Parts: sequence; C-alpha cells; structure tokens
Amino acid sequence: MSRYFVGITGGSGHAYSRALVRGLVSGGHDVDLSVTEAGAKVLLHEEGIAARADGSLAEDTLTTWLGPEVSRSVRSFSTSAIEAPPSSGTSLTGGVILCPCSMGTLARVAVGFSSNLVERAADVALKEGRPMVVVPREAPYSEIHLENMLRLARRGAIVIPASPGFYHHPKTIDDLVGHVVGKILDRLGVENAAGARWQGLDAPDEPGIGGPPPPDPLASPGAAP
Ligand SMILES: Cc1cc2nc3c(=O)[nH]c(=O)nc-3n(C[C@H](O)[C@H](O)[C@H](O)COP(=O)(O)O)c2cc1C
Repeated sequence: MSRYFVGITGGSGHAYSRALVRGLVSGGHDVDLSVTEAGAKVLLHEEGIAARADGSLAEDTLTTWLGPEVSRSVRSFSTSAIEAPPSSGTSLTGGVILCPCSMGTLARVAVGFSSNLVERAADVALKEGRPMVVVPREAPYSEIHLENMLRLARRGAIVIPASPGFYHHPKTIDDLVGHVVGKILDRLGVENAAGARWQGLDAPDEPGIGGPPPPDPLASPGAAP
C-alpha cells in the first residue's frame, strides 16, 4: 500500500480528480489531497463541492464528494500548509498527480517555483525521482504551454492530457472520465477497472460500456443513415 498525493488545481475537469482519488483508494492506497485557491473555485463550480476558507476539505465534504468508504482513506491539506508531510522528501509517497493541472501550476512546476503545497509536492517528487503525473487541460495549447510540458517530460514527469478516446464507444461522461483515469492508474501501476480495455476491432464492447454509436446529431432530418 502506498500514499499518493493528488494536487487539484484551477484547470477544468474536477470529475477526473474525483474518479482518480476513488480509483487510488479502490486500488488499496491512501490519498493526500490539496486544492489550490483557484482549484477551490472550480471545484465548487463544477462539482458543487465547497472547500473551507483555507482550501482544505472538511470530513463531511469529503464524504459527500467521494463516498464514506473512500473518504476514510483521504487526508486533505490546505494548499498554504507548506509544513505538511507532502512538503518533505522524507515523507514517502507512491507518486504525485496534478489532476487537472492548470497552465499556471504547470508553468510554476516546470521552473521549480514552489509557491504552495501542490507545487512543492510536485517539486519533491521530481527531485526524489518518484512518479509525477500531470494531467493538463487547456485548449488550444500555446507554445509556452507545450514547452512547459516538454520541459517536465524531459525531467521525468508523465504527461497524460485530459483527452479521452472515443474508440471504446463511451456512452456516459463516466466512461470518458474513466478512460483518462484508467491511463493514470495504469501508469502508476495501480490495479483498476476504470477504463475499458481494448480487445480489438471485432471484439464486442465490454459490459456497461459501448454499444452502437449514437445517432449523428448533425445529420439532417430524413437523411439516409
Ligand atoms: C471555471 C474555470 C475553468 C478554468 N479552466 C481552466 C483550464 O481548463 N485550464 C487552465 O489552465 N486554466 C483554467 N482556468 C484558469 C485557472 O483557474 C487560473 O489560471 C488559475 O490562476 C490557476 O491557478 P492554480 O494553478 O494555482 O490552480 C479556469 C478558471 C475557471 C474559473
């Protein structure tokens, strides 16, 4: 069993954070999480989950967001708590995941500018040679964003963009989210059933996922199928 650190920033895609934390705990691990100031605003906007004034999540909030089973394995830290264990390399982690990773946090981590606990935990993972995954979300990416991703990838970070595939015939948002989260968990070596596994073009879709693609919403009425 390992303890993972999940940094939740002001990028869009907090459904990924939720599924990721749930996946890590389902895989038998503990999770430390910290939400940046901007992350707290997006968390409230996208998931309806309100952080405390210092950005940490109260126990009952974690339970509402993650479910009682999962929240028991989660510790939440204020992003200003730079004295917290994830700030030190002596505090062992299985890895750090920035999910979603805003372009702001990406830039600061890429230059080693640790202004809060999320950025410091990422910096620690890089200096200690531990797994560090960034899940960037922006569109389009500017040259600066791409350079920052390259800079991090060259220093050992794993860049898994929040861009789900469609070849597994997703039917729900959960299917799309699961595709990305499955990739993150696979890369960390965490056993999971988050995403559908490709079986080949002729294989039937996995239970609960897939089926025939939905009708084309852009097709003109009465057009031949
Ligand atoms: C609703 C909402 C969605 C946002 N989505 C993104 C996004 O997808 N990617 C991004 O880089 N910034 C996004 N931002 C802007 C960041 O939150 C902002 O740049 C912030 O300063 C990032 O701070 P942080 O890196 O400390 O979390 C969004 C902001 C809001 C309010």
